[in-house]
Amino acid sequence: MSLPVGNWNYPTHTRFGAGRIRELPDACAALGIARPLLVTDPGLAALPLLAAARDSLAAAGRPASVFSALKPNPVGANVEAGVAQYRADGCDGVIAFGGGSALDVGKTVALMAGQRRPLWDFEDCGDNYLRADPAGIAPVVAVPTTAGTGSEMGRAAVIVNEAEQRKVIVFHPRMLPGEVIMDPELTVGLPSKLTAWTGLDALAHCLEAWCAPGFHPLADGIALEGMRLIHDSLPRAYADGADLRARGDMLAAAGMGATAFQKGLGAIHALSHPVGAHYDTHHGLTNAVFMPYVLVFNRPAIETRLEAAARYLGLPQPGFDGFLQWVMALREQLDIPHTLAELGVDAAAAGRIAAEAEQDPSAAGNPVPVKAPELERIFLAAVAGRLDA
Ligand SMILES: [Fe+2]
Repeated sequence: MSLPVGNWNYPTHTRFGAGRIRELPDACAALGIARPLLVTDPGLAALPLLAAARDSLAAAGRPASVFSALKPNPVGANVEAGVAQYRADGCDGVIAFGGGSALDVGKTVALMAGQRRPLWDFEDCGDNYLRADPAGIAPVVAVPTTAGTGSEMGRAAVIVNEAEQRKVIVFHPRMLPGEVIMDPELTVGLPSKLTAWTGLDALAHCLEAWCAPGFHPLADGIALEGMRLIHDSLPRAYADGADLRARGDMLAAAGMGATAFQKGLGAIHALSHPVGAHYDTHHGLTNAVFMPYVLVFNRPAIETRLEAAARYLGLPQPGFDGFLQWVMALREQLDIPHTLAELGVDAAAAGRIAAEAEQDPSAAGNPVPVKAPELERIFLAAVAGRLDA
């Protein structure tokens, strides 16, 4: 059975297919990048696949400067260090290569490469992005090695403001990478645990976008098909990391989730962001724990939507309950804990988490309007494992 290959032009130019990492120098050339800053995770920096990418760039006369000093939940100082290296090494573009952290830092370094204002001035709030000088934004080639965040197809990045202990969404329309390489071979080495966690982040993106209110049939179509790909392929990618077809489906679904959530996210992400900022929990794992609690809370507003999704996914039992059962079974199959307590999160911080979740831009997309009291209720239910709350 031959593996799928595709060249896509929306939301951005994308080279999809096994082995297409070989086109990395071409992708740089397409954006006029001769001296890339290659931003990657510390764990990847030492792996042969990264050495191969560097060698191919050097052979093509586009040698890369490698930057990998970033945290799993990247902080503002990581971006500053990346920008300093970018300028010191005379770079003219960024290759963001890795999981969500590397992609987000790479995109943000590119945004900041030629700006004079501080990073936090570009928080996704109102028209803040208009403060940026578009001529100072460097081009980006994105190469995902996980299938979850979809940051390679997104226009934002999540960076922790350490002084305020808060995850800040940085946004600019031109943060959308100009070139994406989706090569399923790059994800075969991803451990099963991270396959599950990142894959469930992609599901959270599709699911929250699908349930977000507002008329956006483009996003709805993409979200629904993204959920189908995850339904069909996440358990297979988890069980057999070398299944390139399943890995490819998950890469596509991750990009689709990020494309779809232009419509909006919801309480899963609104709650997950402050929990991640305070407890340093994995973003996808945190979303996966919250997912059923938020679905149950939103039930009155999303019954029709989930019934349609259940039908499209071909679930054995259609309707809200059937969809919820699928989510619960998938979590169990992928060894996701049922409670936040199992992630080391306790009820003591409930008030603070809820107040911060209310301020998170994702909260506005929740199908049932949520303020701090409702968010606190959901948080406490998820700490204790009370799904009927
Ligand atoms: Fe997410």
